[in-house]
This record gives sequence, structure tokens and C-alpha cells, in this order.
Amino acid sequence: MRRILIPVALLIFVCSYAAVAAVKVDPKLYGSQEGQVCIKCHELKTPALHKMWRTGKMGQAGVNCYDCHQAKKKTDKEPGDPDGYDHRGFWIVTLVSPKDCSRCHKEQFDQQQSSHHAKAADILNSSDNYLGEVVGGAPCVSTGCRQCHGSNIKVVQNGRLDPATWPNTGIGRINPDGSKGSCSACHTRHRFSKEQARRPDACGKCHLGPDHPQIEIYNESKHGILYQAFRDKLNMDRDQWIVGVDYQDAATCATCHISATPNQPATHEVGARISWTLRPAVSKKLTNWTQRRLNMHDVCRQCHSDFMVQDFYKQFDDLVELYNNKFGIPATNIRKKLIDMGKISKADFDDKLDWIYWELWHHEGRRGRHGASMMGPDYAWWHGMYEVAKHFYVEFLPEVEHIMGGKAAAAPLLDELVFKDPMHRWYKEGMSKEQLKRVEEFYKKRYGGREAQ
Ligand code: HEC
Ligand code: HEC
Ligand code: HEC
Ligand code: HEC
Ligand code: HEC
Ligand code: HEC
Ligand code: HEC
Ligand code: HEC
Repeated sequence: MRRILIPVALLIFVCSYAAVAAVKVDPKLYGSQEGQVCIKCHELKTPALHKMWRTGKMGQAGVNCYDCHQAKKKTDKEPGDPDGYDHRGFWIVTLVSPKDCSRCHKEQFDQQQSSHHAKAADILNSSDNYLGEVVGGAPCVSTGCRQCHGSNIKVVQNGRLDPATWPNTGIGRINPDGSKGSCSACHTRHRFSKEQARRPDACGKCHLGPDHPQIEIYNESKHGILYQAFRDKLNMDRDQWIVGVDYQDAATCATCHISATPNQPATHEVGARISWTLRPAVSKKLTNWTQRRLNMHDVCRQCHSDFMVQDFYKQFDDLVELYNNKFGIPATNIRKKLIDMGKISKADFDDKLDWIYWELWHHEGRRGRHGASMMGPDYAWWHGMYEVAKHFYVEFLPEVEHIMGGKAAAAPLLDELVFKDPMHRWYKEGMSKEQLKRVEEFYKKRYGGREAQ
């Protein structure tokens, strides 16, 4: 009797598992015997860690500690894992890399490796890095930059990880096995949940602050407002999460940049749907930008009309081009000229002008562009282009005049690179009589007198 019952029960288990599991992985790949030993001890030694693992989908399915933490030993043919070490008789690694995950999740791994996220630790030669490493100092980089961008993990001895480089779950972390990034940057251990990664806060650890306030912009946008209102009605715990099929009440960061629509699958290539790069001093369209834009357009179209989406992109493009042409390009060219003329040094951050220029594009200029890209009007203007304009006219240009030795000496340079353009003429000419009169009449009508403003 018993002999027949067991296989039947097993069959039912296997069938129902296959019916509910959205992530298809060959069951031969997990459920190692060794793992049972880890679980028994860790249940007592690290009880909350054990519970987090057990509550997650992988814990439920029986993907165990050893399935992920097992390490390759050095052999004659293979170098083995440089960070492998002996732990209670088992050869393991502490750091489970994207490559380790790829044993069961190849598709996600391939997309993630080819994304910009995976390249985020390549910041060594940027001016940002000079700012952090030299103007600041190395500890700023370990606790700041590298916690978002990723460290270059160093192994010291017996598989121990160098504390200057770990703990770290930076998005582009360089791992001892050569793979890049960290899956737990978004899927926090040991639950490794999809639901958690779909929430905007998963991105907000890094995408915030003065130079890329995406989460603040999102919170200000109608999409963020709707998320707060309906966050419990979005079925975020479903295996499948297709906009317009599984939910409709709000769009999160994942909705627009990662998750599926009825026409396209989810992707771990977060750049697949963006057409501009809004990060540099002067924005550029990416290669294949039309296809990328169509991919995003398809997301929007599940909730909006085609016309509205196109009109949104018109407003967005106009803002980026305005920023580029009116401020980004002239400021960049002026600074270059001053360097060529030997008026300021080539080095970043040793002249007052370097700092004004830096904040103009890296902080304020990005905020304006980011605000326009994701429907955050306060960032597009007050935290963004307002600050760009203010600092261009009342800090940058006066500093250039100061460097050149006065208004008259600076005039040829500024006329050529700035004032030739009618967009800047107001600065020299001021408001016209008619404009002044219109402003006065506006306030009179509104408040019964200009002084009431
Ligand atoms: C007999 C008990 C026991 C067994 C068996 C055991 N561990 Fe541990 N493990 C521990 C203890 C205790 C620690 C240290 C925890 C502490 O001090 O906070 C630890 C630490 C770890 C660490 C972190 C090490 C570090 O350097 O940060 C990992 C990873 C780990 N165990 C994984 C495993 C895996 C995988 C297995 C099974 C192959 C396993 N453990 C088996 C008790 C055990
Ligand atoms: C799905 C793969 C996976 C499974 C299953 C898994 N781990 Fe981990 N574990 C990781 C990852 C990823 C990290 C983070 C390492 C890093 O990237 O820095 C980690 C880190 C750890 C750490 C050190 C970091 C810390 O927070 O203290 C310990 C201890 C650990 N795991 C123990 C276990 C134990 C015990 C089990 C089984 C109950 C287990 N792990 C199951 C992937 C896994
Ligand atoms: C040995 C195979 C194996 C490894 C290694 C593995 N996974 Fe999984 N993973 C699975 C299986 C099986 C499932 C499906 C669980 C289910 O839905 O029943 C899964 C599901 C998931 C899910 C979906 C969870 C959800 O909420 O639906 C995520 C996310 C995930 N894995 C991330 C990771 C990450 C990150 C790593 C590396 C740190 C990793 N996995 C390593 C086998 C593995
Ligand atoms: C809070 C997390 C965080 C910190 C801290 C941080 N960054 Fe970033 N950094 C980001 C994000 C997110 C982006 C991408 C912004 C975007 O796409 O709008 C970025 C963009 C960059 C870029 C532009 C990359 C490109 O491809 O154009 C460089 C370079 C950079 N950061 C270097 C640094 C350096 C160096 C430091 C420390 C001095 C630092 N960052 C601190 C999160 C961070
Ligand atoms: C930038 C954040 C981010 C990073 C980094 C990330 N993921 Fe994900 N991942 C997500 C989001 C969001 C989803 C949910 C997509 C959706 O709505 O279906 C997801 C879903 C998954 C799923 C479920 C797929 C399915 O078919 O349901 C797996 C498996 C997974 N990720 C594995 C990984 C692995 C492995 C890595 C590292 C190589 C990784 N993820 C890195 C955000 C991330
Ligand atoms: C309603 C859809 C939508 C939502 C929600 C959304 N984004 Fe975006 N995001 C966009 C669009 C559109 C762009 C600009 C695309 C382009 O360049 O064509 C963009 C651009 C970006 C960029 C590129 C910036 C650069 O410097 O080049 C980043 C990074 C980003 N979003 C992150 C996020 C994060 C993080 C969240 C959540 C806090 C989020 N997005 C929410 C639609 C969205
Ligand atoms: C641990 C930090 C971190 C987390 C978490 C994170 N990002 Fe990023 N993201 C970055 C950094 C750093 C960059 C810039 C990489 C570079 O250019 O070097 C970036 C770049 C991007 C880009 C621009 C990609 C491109 O091709 O130019 C998008 C879009 C983006 N992230 C979306 C997201 C979304 C959506 C989430 C959440 C699901 C998320 N990120 C989570 C750090 C992070
Ligand atoms: C899940 C559905 C959904 C998705 C996906 C979505 N939106 Fe929205 N969006 C809305 C809703 C609902 C509103 C609120 C409209 C209102 O103000 O009544 C909104 C508001 C807006 C607004 C502000 C409109 C206004 O009049 O204030 C803009 C602009 C916008 N969305 C553009 C986009 C773009 C562009 C995309 C794709 C990158 C997108 N949306 C993706 C649902 C969505």
C-alpha cells in the first residue's frame, strides 16, 4: 500500500508545482542533500535569516543554502572560486554572484549583464570619481559611491572578503568570478521577491538625491500619487504582472522600465525603453533610440491615447533641447575656451567656475531633464531649469567676466558663444516697456495693486 501511495503523492506535488510556478527551472538543479545540513544548523544560529529564506518563493520551492552558496574548488583544470572556503566541512562562498544565479536564471542574467546597470562600477575615470576619491577621500567612496555603483570585490585570505569592498550590493559590483552587478540590489536577500522589486522603493535606494531625484519626481507625479492611493490593489504578488491584464491603477518604476505589457515581455535591460541619456553635460539620443522609444510608448499606450503620449514626448524633447542649446552647450564651450586660453586650469574642481559648471549640468541640469522625462513639474522647473537659469546668469556669466578681467574684456567671447543667440538677448536688454506694462496690469487685475504680490 505504502509503496504505491508515495509515488502518487509525489506526482500530485510535482504537477501542482508545475502549474503554479511561473519561473521554470529544471528541478534537478536544486534541492541538494548538503543543504539540509546547513538548514538544520542555521535554523538555530540565524533564525530570522532562515525564516526569510523559507518565506520566499525559492525557499518554498526548496532551493536551499548549498544550491546557491556552493563553491568550486581549485583543480588542475579549473581555477575554482577565489573566494571559496571551508565551512563546517563544506566548500562554500559567502558572496553569491549573478553568475551563480545564472545557473537557474540564464535569461535574466544575460539581460542584466548587457545593461548599463552592470557597467555602473566603471566610474574610475569620471570627474565624479575624482570628486569622491581625491576632493573627498577614499572612505567617502566605500560608504557612498560604491554602495550604489558597486565595489570591485577583493578577496584577502581564506576566502574572506576585504571589508573595504564588502558588504556591498552595488548595482554594477565587480565580483570575484568576473560577473558584474548584484541581483540583491533589487531582490533583497533572503526572500528574493519579485513583489519587492516591483515597488518603487527598490529603485529609490540609488535613484534619489540632488543629481538624480527619480523617486522624488515619481512621488510628485500623478503615477506616484496613484501608487500611494492604490498600492494594495496592484496585485504585485502575482507571478505574472502585465499592465492592463493583472493591474491598471498605477504605473511604478518597474511598470515603465522592466515589467511586461501584452506586447512585450519583462526585461532586466533597464535601458531598453529609454531614448535619451539625460546624464551628461549635453544630452544625446542613444543608438537605436527610435526602437527604444517605441518600447516605452507601448507601455504608456496601455493607459493613454497615442496622441497624448506623442504630445508628452514633444514636451519632453523640447525641454531637453532647450537645456542643451540654451545652457548645456554654451557653458561647456565657454569653459573649454577658458581652458584653451590658459585662463583656468585643466583640472576639475580647483576653480570656482568648475564648481558652478558642475552643479549646472550634474545637479540642476539633470534635475530639470529628469523632471520633464517623468512628469514631475516641480523638478522640471523650480528644482531644475529655474536653478539652471539662475546660476547661468547670476553666477556662471559673472564668474567668466571676473576671470577675463571685466565685462568689456569678456564681451567678445560671450557675444560669440551666448548673446548671438536671441534666447539670451533679454539679459542685456531687460524687459521691454510693453512687457513691464503687461506685468503691472496683470497684478492690478489679480490683487488690486502690484505691491500686493
Ligand atoms: C553546525 C552549524 C552550521 C552548519 C552545519 C552550517 N553553518 Fe553556516 N554558519 C554557522 C554559524 C554559527 C555562522 C556564523 C554566524 C555568526 O557568527 O553570526 C555561519 C556563517 C555562515 C555564512 C557567513 C559567513 C561569513 O563569512 O559571513 C554563510 C554564507 C553560511 N554560514 C552558509 C552555510 C551553508 C551554505 C551551509 C551548508 C553548506 C552552512 N552554513 C552550514 C553555522 C553553521
Ligand atoms: C537564492 C540563492 C540563495 C540561497 C538559497 C541562500 N542564500 Fe545566502 N546569500 C545569497 C546572496 C545573494 C547573499 C549576498 C551575498 C552578496 O552578494 O553580498 C547571501 C548572503 C548570505 C550570508 C552573509 C550575509 C549576511 O547577510 O549575513 C549568510 C550568512 C547566508 N547567505 C546564509 C544562507 C543560509 C544559511 C541559507 C539557507 C537557509 C542561504 N544563505 C540561502 C544567496 C542565497
Ligand atoms: C539552483 C537553482 C536556483 C538558483 C541558483 C537561483 N534560483 Fe531563483 N528560482 C529558482 C526556482 C526553482 C524559482 C521558482 C520558485 C517558484 O516560483 O516556485 C526561482 C525563483 C526566483 C525568483 C522569483 C521570486 C518570486 O517572488 O516569484 C527570483 C526573483 C529569483 N529566483 C532570483 C534569484 C537570484 C537573485 C538568485 C541568485 C542570488 C537565484 N534566484 C538563484 C531556482 C534558483
Ligand atoms: C545614492 C546612490 C549613488 C551615489 C552615492 C553615487 N551615485 Fe553615481 N549615480 C547613481 C545613479 C542612480 C546614477 C544614474 C542616474 C541617471 O541615470 O539619471 C549615477 C550616475 C553616475 C555617473 C554617470 C554614469 C554615466 O554612464 O553617465 C557617474 C560617472 C557616477 N554616477 C559616479 C559617481 C561617483 C564617483 C560617486 C561618488 C563620488 C557617485 N556616483 C555617488 C547613484 C549614485
Ligand atoms: C534593477 C532591479 C533588478 C535587478 C538588479 C534584478 N532584478 Fe530580477 N526582477 C526585477 C523586477 C522588477 C522583476 C519583476 C518583473 C515583473 O514584473 O514581472 C524581476 C523579476 C525576476 C525574476 C522572475 C522572472 C519571472 O519569469 O517571473 C527572476 C527569476 C529574476 N528577476 C532574477 C534576477 C537575477 C538572477 C538577477 C541578477 C542577475 C536580477 N533578477 C536582478 C528587478 C531586478
Ligand atoms: C510612467 C512611466 C515611468 C515611470 C513610472 C518611471 N519612469 Fe523613469 N523614465 C520614463 C521615461 C519616459 C523616461 C525617458 C525616456 C527617454 O529617454 O526616452 C525615463 C527615464 C528614466 C531614467 C534615465 C535617466 C537618464 O539620466 O538618462 C532613469 C534612471 C529612470 N527613468 C528611473 C526611474 C525610476 C527609478 C523610477 C521610479 C522611482 C521611474 N523611472 C519611474 C518613464 C517612467
Ligand atoms: C543599487 C543601486 C541601484 C538600484 C537599486 C537601481 N539602480 Fe538603476 N541605476 C543605478 C546606477 C548607478 C545607474 C547608472 C549606471 C551607469 O550609467 O553607469 C543606473 C541606471 C539606470 C537606468 C538608465 C539605464 C541606461 O541604459 O542608461 C535606468 C532606466 C534605471 N537605472 C532604472 C532602475 C529601476 C527601474 C530600478 C528599480 C527596479 C533601478 N534602476 C534600481 C543604480 C541603481
Ligand atoms: C498603468 C497606467 C498608466 C501607465 C502605464 C502610464 N500612465 Fe500616465 N497616467 C495614468 C493615469 C491614470 C494618470 C492620471 C490622469 C489624470 O490626471 O487624471 C496619468 C497621468 C499622466 C500624465 C499627466 C497628465 C496630466 O494631465 O496631468 C502624463 C503626462 C502621463 N501620464 C504620461 C505617461 C507616459 C508618457 C507614460 C509612459 C511612459 C505613462 N503615462 C504611463 C496612467 C498611466
